[in-house]
Amino acid sequence: MEKYVITGGNPLVGEVEIGGAKNAALAILAASIMTDETVTIENVPDVRDTNVMLQAMESIGVQIIRVDRHTYRINGSRIHNQVILNEGIKKIRASYYLIGALLGKYKNAEVPLPGGCNLGTRAIDQHIKGFRSLGASVNVRHGSVVAHAQSLKGSHIFMDKVSVGATINVIMAAVMAEGKTVIENAAKEPHVVDLANFLNSMGANIKGAGTDVIRINGVQSLHKTEYMIIPDQIEAGTYLMAAAATRGDITVKNVIPKHLECIYAKLSEIGCQVEESDDAVRVVATKRLGNTQVKTLPYPGFPTDMQPQMTVLLGIAQGISIVTESIFDNRFKYVDELTRMGSDIKVEGNTAIITGVERYSGAEIASPDLRAGAALVIAALTAEGESVVTDIQYIQRGYEDFHLKLKKLGGNIEIIDTPDEEESPKDAAFRSVVS
Ligand code: UD1
Repeated sequence: MEKYVITGGNPLVGEVEIGGAKNAALAILAASIMTDETVTIENVPDVRDTNVMLQAMESIGVQIIRVDRHTYRINGSRIHNQVILNEGIKKIRASYYLIGALLGKYKNAEVPLPGGCNLGTRAIDQHIKGFRSLGASVNVRHGSVVAHAQSLKGSHIFMDKVSVGATINVIMAAVMAEGKTVIENAAKEPHVVDLANFLNSMGANIKGAGTDVIRINGVQSLHKTEYMIIPDQIEAGTYLMAAAATRGDITVKNVIPKHLECIYAKLSEIGCQVEESDDAVRVVATKRLGNTQVKTLPYPGFPTDMQPQMTVLLGIAQGISIVTESIFDNRFKYVDELTRMGSDIKVEGNTAIITGVERYSGAEIASPDLRAGAALVIAALTAEGESVVTDIQYIQRGYEDFHLKLKKLGGNIEIIDTPDEEESPKDAAFRSVVS
């Protein structure tokens, strides 16, 4: 198993290129099978989740040519069945996007869902409600979602909860439905907009993505396109937090600054200097930062996927800070690991009460999931002495070349590979999921 060995203390300084958005890529890769023509997608991040999605697509007959590390040509004309048997797909939450894509194109889909998830309950009732509203019969059988329709008909759908996944899935199912679909209380995240832009470039008729009412006029078919995925808001935000935590100076390049406002507004509030240009954001921290209150909210609020990184940062800021998690009901598990590094954080329900300590101390810590894993790496980069971060396979699900990029910024981080130990029950339970 690979591990990171990190010696903390170096301020991270320099520029870092941000890759394509993992969460947009997962939706767009799935949607690319919805035409029989060849689609070219650029800026696909080379991370485990996208590679798992590509493998699952290949398993049903999708032809995939890797033009270069981040560019794929995808052709879905030879899909031979709509039942995904690929075991790997259970490892990613976004497997459910193949339901919307296959149902939308073939009116038929059977896709295994991931098992338990360590962020708390992650229902898919809103996805199912949306598909049923379009006329599909949907059942969960033997761990798979089985969806089928004679025809799909446009409908008026009010989401009971703002859900990124359900919004994207219903858009995919509705683009070739007969007539008009309206999705109210839709998610407004950048990747919802990116997926809609992608489908529109294939001939779909989707209006209002980025607002909470999305209107879709069904079209007969979709056609080829060439499309570049937006930069990753969360990858960029993670490096900005690393700059703030290590009292460094990092410029994230190739980003859409508007997507990062909800993150760097907080950094500015607690004492960082922030500079924004057309496609870059720079964060400089020269002193110990101040305290604040943060509540995670759907976009344009503070993203839940930045919550662990923010908590790690506030754990070494002055005074008492409060972080409230309002999206997921179990997203503070990493705090136990942070406690082993000397933090003073009390979790009560969905709120963390953080008393800033001067500095973390190095320890052996296990990455509980993707974003918390990245946050613990930031903690280790600030800590006194050496830390070993295990279970980094979770981090590799969503960060391309994480340790290489951190090293280039001056971080003292190495990756080491030790012989596989027997899989722990915890690993077995969580070989899946998380953002
Ligand atoms: C996506 C992102 C994830 C991010 C999350 C919130 C991907 C692949 N993952 O996850 O990184 O943390 O958005 O920004 O893009 N819910 C229901 N019923 C549903 C669907 C969701 O109750 O049918 C609840 C969830 O349990 C959660 C909340 O709604 O409490 C938000 O979930 P959702 O926006 O759907 O998250 P994901 O799409 O799974």
